[in-house]
Amino acid sequence: MNHLKRREFITLAAGAGAAVLTGCAAEKTGQALQDHSPAEPVKKRFPIVLSSNENPFGPCPEALEAGTKAVRDSSQLYSREQSDQFSRILTDYYRLGSGEMLLGCGAIELLKIAVDVFCSSRSSPIISEPVYEAMDYYAGLRRISPIRIPASAKDKGHDFQSMLDAAYLHGGLIYVCNPCNPTGSLKNKKELTDFVDQIPPEMIIVVDEAYAEYVGPGFFSCMDLVRSGASNLIVVRTFSKIYGLAGLRVGYCAGNQELIRAMAGHRLWNNINQAGLAAAQASLGNQAWVDKMQRENEATRTYFCSGLDEIGIDYIPAAGSFVLISTGRSWEETHSYLLIKGGIVAGRKIPSLPGHIRISLGSREDMDHVLSVLQDFQSLGDPKNSG
Ligand SMILES: Cc1ncc(COP(=O)(O)O)c(C=O)c1O
Repeated sequence: MNHLKRREFITLAAGAGAAVLTGCAAEKTGQALQDHSPAEPVKKRFPIVLSSNENPFGPCPEALEAGTKAVRDSSQLYSREQSDQFSRILTDYYRLGSGEMLLGCGAIELLKIAVDVFCSSRSSPIISEPVYEAMDYYAGLRRISPIRIPASAKDKGHDFQSMLDAAYLHGGLIYVCNPCNPTGSLKNKKELTDFVDQIPPEMIIVVDEAYAEYVGPGFFSCMDLVRSGASNLIVVRTFSKIYGLAGLRVGYCAGNQELIRAMAGHRLWNNINQAGLAAAQASLGNQAWVDKMQRENEATRTYFCSGLDEIGIDYIPAAGSFVLISTGRSWEETHSYLLIKGGIVAGRKIPSLPGHIRISLGSREDMDHVLSVLQDFQSLGDPKNSG
């Protein structure tokens, strides 16, 4: 395995760290973009941030060009017209009806709005544990306690039967993350259709498909169910992940007209920026890039997982752009070892899965480095005997 040599890395890290400390971060970012050939991952990052599942390749060339042009030509303009236009483009793209699409400042705005509109102290969100933390966080701001359903022991995915039982008991909103962040588990067409069919019509189901495009051609999107008329379903998507536009903040959701109308009034006015709209629209036209990103991600995941096998670290087979690993040591120990010894920022603590840590898939070079640091970590010995 072609692991980055540790000494080389430490020199690189020390230099880059000093640059950050002396306030050259903006300059470095500019440099990284200048050096960025869209066929390769963006280089020269320090620390190596593998905590937010960002696409190491960044956006496709057309998106870079369109976004840059929009900054130049449209920065002075509010984005309402462009936003309405892009909403119509997405509506056509998914063959939806008018009024069934809503754009958000990232998927996160739409998840927050779903909580604001559809949850109350008497109708809590029902969430799997662990799952992406937005519903939990935004419900918490309104002093609403989510109903947490432990992930199934088998694949750490959503336990649909227990979620259904909770839905019948408590009502409210059900949040499904597919593929699931952080476990990477995936539900298939039958599981999803049966589940949606059984949810009482007065309940809302939010299916978050932030990582959908990473699954590849076999993915079943709940967009199909919206299209065929499911009246209580909202599907949330984003340009932040495979499209590499996390910094430009464009997300969207689809659902029946009534649900979308209820949510639309809660958006910030002019919630999407011109550069984001232009870049997202250009990205949508380059399906070949998405396919390439999907294959790259899959190849890197296979490569990383075989490296984990080699050094004897357990992981959950995943469908997204990240892998949840289990080092046998506490999250705190693993997280700080990766950071201090390797300059690697790994994912957040997952209280319901102690000993696990999520690593986003970066470039091959990043993953070689992670494997090399993890191997050193493993060589510290059996955690049970580590005192
Ligand atoms: C499952 C999931 N949903 C939504 C989001 C938020 O996406 P956005 O950047 O579009 O707000 C994330 C970001 O990490 C995510 O993992």
